[in-house]
Amino acid sequence: MNTHHTGLHPIETASIDEIRATQLARMKQTLLHAYTRIPHYKQRFDAAGVHPDDLKDLADLAKFPFLVKDDLRQNYPFGMFAYPTEQLARIHASSGTTGKPTVVGYTKNDIEMWSDVMARSIYASGARPGMKVHIAYGYGLFTGGLGAHFGVERLGCMAIPMSGGQTEKQVQLIQDFQPDVIMVTPSYMLALADEMDRVGLSAEDCSIKYGIFGAEPWTNEMRTSIERRTGLSAVDIYGLSEVIGPGVANECVETKDGLHIWEDHFYPEIVDPETGAVLPDGEFGELVFTSLTKEALPIIRYRTRDLTRLLPGTARSMRRMEKVTGRSDDMLIIRGVNLFPTQIEELILKDPRLAPHYQLELGRKGPLDTLTVRVEGTPGADADTRTAAAADLTHHIKSFIGISAKVDVVAEGAVERSVGKAKRVVDRRNE
Ligand code: DLL
Repeated sequence: MNTHHTGLHPIETASIDEIRATQLARMKQTLLHAYTRIPHYKQRFDAAGVHPDDLKDLADLAKFPFLVKDDLRQNYPFGMFAYPTEQLARIHASSGTTGKPTVVGYTKNDIEMWSDVMARSIYASGARPGMKVHIAYGYGLFTGGLGAHFGVERLGCMAIPMSGGQTEKQVQLIQDFQPDVIMVTPSYMLALADEMDRVGLSAEDCSIKYGIFGAEPWTNEMRTSIERRTGLSAVDIYGLSEVIGPGVANECVETKDGLHIWEDHFYPEIVDPETGAVLPDGEFGELVFTSLTKEALPIIRYRTRDLTRLLPGTARSMRRMEKVTGRSDDMLIIRGVNLFPTQIEELILKDPRLAPHYQLELGRKGPLDTLTVRVEGTPGADADTRTAAAADLTHHIKSFIGISAKVDVVAEGAVERSVGKAKRVVDRRNE
């Protein structure tokens, strides 16, 4: 029998003192657990001359070494687990762009905790027990589908386990089943919205009231665009396999002002990506997480490569992270100027002649890198309109970002659609 969450967990509105005390107690346990059970941590802590007993307050965490994706790869597949597989309930894996995937493991208690933080996230997004939730995150080794699924059931909602793909069928079943909530990547939501337009399902007639979008960076401009087209209320959900999966942080529907980090389970730090120094709240840098309650795969100071900043709590006591600007690996450097795809997305969405389907292509001309922005025109836009929109976007990229880019405004459907995470950058420099 599921425990229904009919309201907030007391820790969501607890005092900062209470939250910090809970974190400190749990962090001490986690450090000791990792040190005593996982050889990798013992070696790293010993080499750095630190012991779990050295943690007297939360700031002492900075003495402990970082964990990076490569550490997990080198211990592929199960070497970072605190327990033998006989004691695990599940694994997931995330496929990196290169090499072996990263494998993550869960005990039964880990799955319980994950279901709880997902239920908390889905509740914060506006969903209530009894609602129907269409889940279009991929099911399988990816954490999106199953993570969402267990949270939906835990909250006391009905799960519609669609997974990704079969766009026409998704929209048909949305019309038939009348879900209240959809959980999907924002880029795939756009493909669903296009299909809704094609079959004439208007915003007024669409049953969906809440959208829970994440697994990739997206902008507030994209939020407004999706909300206007589909009539739903859109919030951001963040997470990563190494930390648990989706449900590490979630926006609250009443404020939509960044994502509250569920700090009773995941302790955040922001560090300077170059030096690793811890930065004060409010400063922009790389997000680092330490798990506070995980059993199978405790993670100490995991470097996410996601860039954002920490802000004080609003709708909940726990701190917020600003919408992720991008991953440090996705930052493009075009003739000395740093660029994230989300910066281009913001500019595209300001122009009603352009559709939010886009890709950035890197090329090479002699010694110089070149950037081509391929973006679709709004359905029905004629050649003259597209040419004019291309000229304007070129100009805006130059004046707001400082880069000379070539802009191709292409016909509807010419930019590859994703069914999960969108591929925003195509590197053709070595072709
Ligand atoms: O993408 C987990 C997830 C599933 C989150 C469904 C939200 C919804 P991974 O495949 O391990 O896990 O990828 C994690 O995706 O480090 C970020 O770079 C990116 N990411 C996830 N959520 C967001 C978000 C899942 N809301 C990586 N905004 C992370 C920006 C996000 N980037």
